[in-house]
Amino acid sequence: LAGDLRAAFRRHAAGVAVITTSSAGGPVGFTVNSLASVSAAPPLLSFNIARTSSSWEAVGRAEFLGVHLLGSGQEELAGTFARHGADRFARPTSWICGPFGVPQLAGCLVRMIARVEERWPIGDHTIVVAEVVLVELAPAGKPLLYQDGGFRRLSPD
Ligand SMILES: Cc1cc2nc3c(=O)[nH]c(=O)nc-3n(C[C@H](O)[C@H](O)[C@H](O)COP(=O)(O)O)c2cc1C
Repeated sequence: LAGDLRAAFRRHAAGVAVITTSSAGGPVGFTVNSLASVSAAPPLLSFNIARTSSSWEAVGRAEFLGVHLLGSGQEELAGTFARHGADRFARPTSWICGPFGVPQLAGCLVRMIARVEERWPIGDHTIVVAEVVLVELAPAGKPLLYQDGGFRRLSPD
């Protein structure tokens, strides 16, 4: 069943996002494809984080998060924020310290700031629900997708 479940979700095409936060040790961030819109009023989003993730300690304590929807062309950034041991905020990553001290990445399709509302441990992951307090939309652009173990772009057909 575990193998079939993995195979099933390899067929699930999802957008790619990077979640960031600040910690005593500096900025923290990781790539997710589990981002979902949860509620419009109040405006809530969710994502899942493995509790074995090196970002878990910071995300488990964080009050504010940066949520970045990546655009086509940001495959390298997505890879950096998924690579174990990578110095994720070193060059060529371009970022600033944004509102509420949240690290904000440059060049994304959408940047949001969200305040953590709930953390639900479930299975080997924790579902994090956060209220969106700020949304910045890039004027244009196409999303980066993840499907069948690789990054994809939309084609016209
Ligand atoms: C496309 C993609 C989506 C991912 N989605 C998630 C996710 O939703 N939740 C999660 O905990 N890890 C997810 N990961 C894995 C984390 O990005 C990765 O495990 C982590 O950053 C690795 O670093 P670490 O070993 O320092 O924890 C995803 C990775 C990729 C490439």
